[in-house]
Amino acid sequence: MSACSPSSIVRIAILGCGPRGVQMAKIVALLTKSFKLVAMSDPDATAREKVKNRFPDLEMYASSDDLLDKANIDAVIVETPPAYHAEYVCKALNRNIAVMSEIPVADTLEEADLLYKTVKSSKALFMTGATANYRQKSRYMLKLKAQGILGNAAYVEAEYMHDLRASKDPWRKTYETCRYCCHSLGPLLAVMDGDEFDTVSCMGTGDHLNCGWINNNMAALLRTKNNVVCRFMCGFAINHCGPAHRTVMYTDKGHFKFYNERAMVFTADMPLYTRSKEFYTVEFGNIPERFTNDVEFPYDKVMDCGGGGHGGADFIMLEDFADAIINNKPSPVSIEAGLAMTLPGIYAAESAREGGTLKKIIYPWSKEK
Ligand SMILES: NC(=O)c1ccc[n+]([C@@H]2O[C@H](COP(=O)([O-])OP(=O)(O)OC[C@H]3O[C@@H](n4cnc5c(N)ncnc54)[C@H](O)[C@@H]3O)[C@@H](O)[C@H]2O)c1
Repeated sequence: MSACSPSSIVRIAILGCGPRGVQMAKIVALLTKSFKLVAMSDPDATAREKVKNRFPDLEMYASSDDLLDKANIDAVIVETPPAYHAEYVCKALNRNIAVMSEIPVADTLEEADLLYKTVKSSKALFMTGATANYRQKSRYMLKLKAQGILGNAAYVEAEYMHDLRASKDPWRKTYETCRYCCHSLGPLLAVMDGDEFDTVSCMGTGDHLNCGWINNNMAALLRTKNNVVCRFMCGFAINHCGPAHRTVMYTDKGHFKFYNERAMVFTADMPLYTRSKEFYTVEFGNIPERFTNDVEFPYDKVMDCGGGGHGGADFIMLEDFADAIINNKPSPVSIEAGLAMTLPGIYAAESAREGGTLKKIIYPWSKEK
């Protein structure tokens, strides 16, 4: 493994050859100015075989430990099932390899503590792979915030609804969906001025649809340190169009809805003429502006990357990762941000198992005070 010089291309590996690992591999392979994809790993021979057919030049490993020990890489992306994210992130950081962790960044409270300590003591870069923070709607939220249009939250809502009953992703069937809260809470936290979720109560539906999933949907109420109330839900086994990512904010300036690649804005200071009608609506395309200005960018191949890599978000996220490594910049999405969008889900799952008990959310950095 080598340290990057500012002009170099990041030599990267991906752990996990499931659908998400393959999606990231396809995107990395298109970002030729930033990355060279060197190796991938998976204990499942069939999954490795599929990748090898698509990328014959890659080094393939059955063991991720072997890959981390032997491959000549600067960085790694961890795309293992959720229970193995933190373990391999720590293993990479302990070998001084820069790492992007898939979300959620931890599966248990103990893992969250260990991950936080490991990131803080490692010289290698850690980045949370917070795809949803890079979606065009989330970037538009940041723009509205910076322009003073969004204002300060009073009450917010966030949802990720995705009927995945037909999918082959094995981990989702038994996963408490409230733990998959990063896509929903991450973009909200990014515009809430350092506020953090402080308490949570959550309930699950169980399986009303007799589909064999542990819950059709889970719903939580959260309160932040600044007393903002948030209603959050996530369902993978329920009738719903989508994938549907929805963020709603009621603020001191107005009422805002962000839905997939669309934003709807109503501000209290809009002219009465506009106010009496409808929301001001903005539609975003599938390819972010950053790429539409780049003549060499392979637009025609974007949709081959699993729905365009979340509306182009994965492309920007990965470029930010490369830029931070090559130019020695701070993490674009830090460990604190990653845990702030992950830990509420772990506490929510505990709450749901106890029938909705109110749980206090404790972060590793609050234990240090
Ligand atoms: N950011 C997003 O939008 C997004 C979308 C889908 C999935 N995800 C995340 O990505 C992760 C992977 O999702 P998926 O749908 O590909 O899951 P999956 O379970 O279908 O595939 C995971 C793969 O990892 C392999 N694996 C298990 N242990 C491993 C190890 N130690 N080293 C290497 N590989 C190992 C499995 O054999 C499997 O092939 C999930 O944990 C999920 O959190 C994120």
